[in-house]
Amino acid sequence: MRVTHLSLTDFRNYAAVEVPFEPGPNLIVGRNGQGKTNLVEALGFLSTLSSHRVSTTSAMIRAGQDAGIIRARLEYNGRDLLTEVQINRSGLNRAQVNRSVIKTRDLPRYFSSVLFAPEDLALVRGDPSGRRRFLDQLLVLRTPRLAGVLADYDRVLRQRNTLLKSARASGLRTTQLGTLEIWDDRLVELGSEIIDERAELVRQLGEPLRAAYEAVAGEDHGPQLLSSLSIMGADEENSASVEPRAVVEPVETIVGSGVSTGSTAGAGSTTDLFRAALAGLRRKELDRGMTLVGPHRDDLVFMLNQLPAKGYASHGESWSFALALKLASAELLRRDSASGDPVLILDDVFAELDLSRRRRLAAAVTGFQQVLITAAVLEDVPEDLTAHTIHINAGAVVDG
Ligand SMILES: Nc1ncnc2c1ncn2[C@@H]1O[C@H](COP(=O)(O)OP(=O)(O)O)[C@@H](O)[C@H]1O
Ligand SMILES: [Mg+2]
Repeated sequence: MRVTHLSLTDFRNYAAVEVPFEPGPNLIVGRNGQGKTNLVEALGFLSTLSSHRVSTTSAMIRAGQDAGIIRARLEYNGRDLLTEVQINRSGLNRAQVNRSVIKTRDLPRYFSSVLFAPEDLALVRGDPSGRRRFLDQLLVLRTPRLAGVLADYDRVLRQRNTLLKSARASGLRTTQLGTLEIWDDRLVELGSEIIDERAELVRQLGEPLRAAYEAVAGEDHGPQLLSSLSIMGADEENSASVEPRAVVEPVETIVGSGVSTGSTAGAGSTTDLFRAALAGLRRKELDRGMTLVGPHRDDLVFMLNQLPAKGYASHGESWSFALALKLASAELLRRDSASGDPVLILDDVFAELDLSRRRRLAAAVTGFQQVLITAAVLEDVPEDLTAHTIHINAGAVVDG
């Protein structure tokens, strides 16, 4: 698929802007602070309902305004689609497709993009929450129905935590115990589906990740993804200090034997493991007043040369890993999408790379239907990506 036209109203530093895009590579250039990232952030938001830079949407509304609007004309399979989202400072955001109101949550069904930015280094070096978000966003892009499962899980988790907190204050009463059991059932049911879906996604990412890493880095460092699951005893609070072996050994067994094969009943199924873990942690959960096991406590360990990338990989290797992970996501989306390739967005990437990596990245992305690239310096970007160039200055498109 591709974006044919983007209109922004009161979005970041844009009062109003109209930007036509071409198929293939589009290069957005301008000095720092002019609004390049803002443009691609808008498109990223349209496809994931989140920003790669901020967690509160109100930062995206132009200062002094009450609402910002992102409107994009998309084309896929010869069809023309007008998508729109209005971000409100107070009240819910509103979405439309072809001028009919839709649930905002359903917007990602219509537009699929993969964005890579310097912030993605945090995927390798940062907290587990960023890696969970990465997996969940990709799950939703591939299987939109899962947005509902993830939202339901969050709701059940919050309610279960509230109950555990009040039980901690007053001691668990019999009536509360019954309620807790109901929340346990929902937690296990929804949580197991998420765990299984993530495990299958991790499995499928393996080969494209290896290929993308080699394409970008020019060397094969054996990049791997290993699930670290709280239902198997992995603990997010300790994972940073755990020796690599301790994380890897049990997890390899899980990934190979059961968790990814779905929650069919039987010994070792995800739901059984989940229930057993909950039972084992009941005391501790009541002491702490929170849910200590489930997909909200899981992590994904990135391995390079048999060592965890976090804490071991060099800056360049970490960077290549994060980039390769995004390219692998794009590859998976293109493989099973009826609407063609996702739009690939590379924000400020080329300045970070040496000449040979620039060339390799250019070669790796030219096959995509549309690629949007931002750069402060035109010369940083290989020539085969510069045929269509958009110049940005102070929140406006200007002549080059
Ligand atoms: N909500 C907002 N309202 C007005 N201006 C904003 C808002 N958010 C960011 N900006 C401005 O946008 C500019 C940064 O744009 P950005 O797209 O990140 O630049 P770059 O071209 O370097 O990628 C800054 O000048 C910043 O002050
Ligand atoms: Mg920028």
